[in-house]
Amino acid sequence: MGKFIIKGPVKLKGEINISGSKNAALPILFASLLIKEVIEIKNIPKLKDIDIVIKLFLHLGVKIKNGKSLIINASNLHTDFNFPQNLIKSIRASIWLVSPLLVRLKKIHMSLPGGCSIGMRPIDLHIKYLQKLGANIYIKNNCIIASIDKKFKGSHIIMEKNSVGATISIILAAIYAKNITIIDNAAKEPEIKDLINFLNIMGAKIKGAGTKKIIIQGVLKLKGGIYTIMDDRIETGTFLIAAAISKGYIICKNTNPKNLKIVLKKLEYTGAEIKTGKNWCSINMNNKRPKAVNIITGPYPNFPTDMQPQFTLLNCISSGYSIVQETIFENRFLYIHQLNKMGAKILIDNNKVFCQGVTSLYSSTMKATDLRASISLVLAACIATGITTIDNIDYIDRGYENIEKKLISLGAKIKRIK
Ligand code: UD1
Repeated sequence: MGKFIIKGPVKLKGEINISGSKNAALPILFASLLIKEVIEIKNIPKLKDIDIVIKLFLHLGVKIKNGKSLIINASNLHTDFNFPQNLIKSIRASIWLVSPLLVRLKKIHMSLPGGCSIGMRPIDLHIKYLQKLGANIYIKNNCIIASIDKKFKGSHIIMEKNSVGATISIILAAIYAKNITIIDNAAKEPEIKDLINFLNIMGAKIKGAGTKKIIIQGVLKLKGGIYTIMDDRIETGTFLIAAAISKGYIICKNTNPKNLKIVLKKLEYTGAEIKTGKNWCSINMNNKRPKAVNIITGPYPNFPTDMQPQFTLLNCISSGYSIVQETIFENRFLYIHQLNKMGAKILIDNNKVFCQGVTSLYSSTMKATDLRASISLVLAACIATGITTIDNIDYIDRGYENIEKKLISLGAKIKRIK
């Protein structure tokens, strides 16, 4: 794993082009396994997680041209594929192989998915709902073993927990299912809406995108076509926070601020001047120190858990006290003691942290623990006095395209050591 050497403090200011969304690109890629005609996907971010999916697809016999856009031809899949299990285990998104491969190949045997260690991350809901749609699926010796007789069968699923991943597994299974599938209490994240837009353009019949009731009428065929992935709202939010903590000014381009309403509102409460347009937003701290703001994470449209470590950092250096409550993942505070090493004053109590704002942070030697925690440490290092070393920074490459190039363009002093 590589490391970053970062010299601070700096003020981060300038313009940033926001990349395509990782969390929309991943399910759309897996959905492309359902399509036998050629599809072209634009605005795919260049990320490690996407590279892993491409490698998995090559093992399956999918033909891929990886240039400015991604051209995918999944007309013929190998039936004798043998995934390197370390690839499956390295991302959570590999769970989305199950539904399309059951549709195409009728059986699958693969290792359990992995991903960032931010909590237990069970897959019980995926299994339960795919069973409800007619799959024979179970876990044995840390592997998923699944088969289906002919086709998935439409069903009425009332989700007991709001899960992005399980909502996607159901949608992917229901596309070609017999009859109608209704998902009640579905996740409403904009990335699910993007997946549904993509599938509908390719010929699916799905209603209710972005609402908690999704209705899927099974179809016989999806066709090829071209699709442009939505922007990464979490990347946008991260850069807005980069400006807020450094009393800077940043304009984010190619991003839809409507998907980030709660984050923009909370940033306004800190005293930031926020401006928005159709496909851009900007933040200006006007050289002021931010004010601390309480947050509680929750499913969309509530505050995104993927922005929690960045906002907690903001609270660390703001004036006043704040409480941050994490309601989605039970282990998402692993980075807190590292911020405390830099002079932050944060106490953890179960799923809450209590921050007492400090005026400055100082450099330290740190280790990244997961994707969003890593970016929080990188931003902390940019405003800390002195030289900070962050180990294990490969996590960042899973979710942030060209991160050091983008931060350097805003004034950061970062060097990557391989
Ligand atoms: C997705 C996102 C991740 C984001 C999360 C919540 C991708 C690739 N990842 O993750 O960035 O932080 O949504 O917005 O899109 N759960 C179960 N059983 C299951 C599935 C989930 O108990 O079978 C629980 C989880 O442990 C968690 C909650 O449900 O507590 C929500 O998880 P979920 O929405 O499924 O997250 P992911 O799809 O893994």
